[in-house]
Amino acid sequence: MLTVLYLVAGVLFILSLGGLSSQESARKGNLYGVLGMTLAVLATAMDPRITLNPILLGAIGIGGAIGATLAARVVMTAMPQLVALLHSFVGLAAVLVGISTALDPAGGAGGSALVHGIEIWLDVAIGAITFTGSVVAWGKLDGRMSGAPLLLPGRHQLNLIAVSAIALLAVPFVATHGGPMGIVALLVMTVVAGWLGWHLVMAIGGADMPVVVSLLNSYSGWTAAAAGFMLSNDALIVTGALVGSSGFILSVIMCRAMNRSILSVVFGGFGTADTSAKPDGPVEDLSALVTTIDAEDLASELKDSSSVVIVPGYGMAVARAQHIVEELTRTLRDNGTKVHYAIHPVAGRLPGHMNVLLAEAGVPYDIVFEMEEINDDMPETDVVLVIGANDVVNPGAQTDTSSAIYGMPVIEAWKASKVIVFKRSLGTGYAGVQNPLFFHDNTDMYFGDARETVTGLVAALRQA
Ligand code: TAP
Repeated sequence: MLTVLYLVAGVLFILSLGGLSSQESARKGNLYGVLGMTLAVLATAMDPRITLNPILLGAIGIGGAIGATLAARVVMTAMPQLVALLHSFVGLAAVLVGISTALDPAGGAGGSALVHGIEIWLDVAIGAITFTGSVVAWGKLDGRMSGAPLLLPGRHQLNLIAVSAIALLAVPFVATHGGPMGIVALLVMTVVAGWLGWHLVMAIGGADMPVVVSLLNSYSGWTAAAAGFMLSNDALIVTGALVGSSGFILSVIMCRAMNRSILSVVFGGFGTADTSAKPDGPVEDLSALVTTIDAEDLASELKDSSSVVIVPGYGMAVARAQHIVEELTRTLRDNGTKVHYAIHPVAGRLPGHMNVLLAEAGVPYDIVFEMEEINDDMPETDVVLVIGANDVVNPGAQTDTSSAIYGMPVIEAWKASKVIVFKRSLGTGYAGVQNPLFFHDNTDMYFGDARETVTGLVAALRQA
């Protein structure tokens, strides 16, 4: 019965991942995931080997309440740090369950002692790396630590020594079948693996953090899968493998979108958010080099345009401007203007950030396009409205070899007849590099908080 329930939960998780791959089916995908997880938890609670004592029930109740409160309160822009924190819990849980299984001679699965020893070892090692790595990722994303990479001398050699120590310490553990010497080896290895996780993520700069979070997501999946083998729990094996592989695939997709190699991310030292090129001069001096536009002039320009592309970015999320942007879209479409959206894969601060906001605001899915789908249409576009985006429309990514984002594919907004950039200042975006687009002849800046400027524009359009 348990196996069948776990199998159904596994199928629901697969349907969930399938559903999450497109906006139209994402809600259904989420629902499948919730159903699968509920089923997996209920089935586990019904396992005759489990005693549901008050401590366990209390822990589930308190943990569930904290999780629900955190999820309800978190703002979209702080989601990456919450995800990183949740991964750290998976890692910590794996370490604690692994060590307790090693201490309890009757614990875990039956079968070969050698295989069981290796399962415990992998569970604890990956769990400890995931735990400390995720805590550092959380600290960097939440601004509690510097985003600059920590580049210790000989860091690759140090990592190699740590990996070798993790492998060598397995010998006394497996050989003594978890005897006192083995337990000491396990505890020492936990510290070494924890150090490795800390060091690996400390060496990674802020700009690569999204990929790191997705990689840690993958690690947390493999930890769960190792725990599943250790505890003979099919649901954990299936779920862990799904999370591990989908997290890895997402990391590869994000690396391509940011033009990084996955190995360079894993081994660190790239994406130095705090140290990358700063603007060429003080921002005040640069303001003389740009042209600005106001709501009325922009409204009359848009009245005469037949095609408009909107490029949303992190600033739209910060300003919570998605609803008024949707209203702008409706107003333009009512006037007979063709409106499309161009979404960069790493616009905002988490994968799919813009898609989630636009779906929430009710923007029709069929006018939302990925960067590769829409870049070729730019030369035929009358006006591109860049709303709170910066790095993702930076032409320097194609031309300036010294730029921190050189090589990152970008939305080629500058190829349109006219570009309007909605932002508050000439300040830089996440990568900390100046954007030459602002100084192009066909670009006008529309300064201000995105929600206020778009609201002003909608009002002007209605009066024009
Ligand atoms: P950014 O390059 O970060 O630029 C956002 C711009 O929004 C800023 O230049 C800022 O300029 C403006 N802004 C902030 N608050 C605003 C407000 N209230 N109203 C109007 N504008 C506002 O954003 P992007 O173009 O979306 O690019 C994303 C960047 O984040 C990339 O470098 C990417 O690699 C990185 N990243 C992505 C992710 C994922 S997975 N999506 C995760 C972490 C990091 P002002 O201050 O002048 O207003």
